[in-house]
Amino acid sequence: MIASCSLVKFSHTGALNFCGAESMQDRSPLSKEIFRNAMARLASAVTIITTDGENGRHGFTASAVCSVSDEPATLLVCVNRTASTHAHLVQNGLLAINILAHEQEELSTLFGSSRFDMQTRFASGSWRKGEIGMPVLEGALVSLECRISLTQEIGTHSVFFVEPLCAEFTQEEASGLVWFDRAYRRA
Ligand SMILES: Cc1cc2nc3c(=O)[nH]c(=O)nc-3n(C[C@H](O)[C@H](O)[C@H](O)COP(=O)(O)O)c2cc1C
Repeated sequence: MIASCSLVKFSHTGALNFCGAESMQDRSPLSKEIFRNAMARLASAVTIITTDGENGRHGFTASAVCSVSDEPATLLVCVNRTASTHAHLVQNGLLAINILAHEQEELSTLFGSSRFDMQTRFASGSWRKGEIGMPVLEGALVSLECRISLTQEIGTHSVFFVEPLCAEFTQEEASGLVWFDRAYRRA
């Protein structure tokens, strides 16, 4: 068993050491650095979350997207409240989850950096309105248009629970784009 504590140290072999015996109540949460290092080991699909409404199209890259339940069909999307798209998601109440194919890595870079404005982001790739009007990416593995059903604030992020209303499978054969160990991989 490996202890989950803030005093875990990496040896030169990469093995983990245990921390001392503290009571659960006294134990502080993992430091940001150790938490981030641990999460780098959690492979995740790469998506572009988009929305459209009164203030136009917005979108950003997200890997913190997860299936929650299939009855009713529900996913969650974790969005940093500093992301420029955040306010538009709250306002519109609708979004699309575009699950990227391996060859769409460049789009992930564009939508994942504040150096690029929305016009530049959406100028790349082929975008069209989906069935409920959300921006859907041509060539994504799947695009799910969703309604936000519940929002929970945790730390720096909002967790949006969303119900998918439409699914478009545009690339059934392609490989997926995965974020693992701080790099893009093929899945
Ligand atoms: C591979 C990858 C995964 C990301 N996952 C998330 C995520 O799940 N949630 C989030 O809020 N930001 C995530 N980001 C960061 C945002 O995409 C990035 O901060 C983006 O610039 C935010 O949009 P803005 O510049 O319009 O504010 C991720 C970035 C990359 C490159």
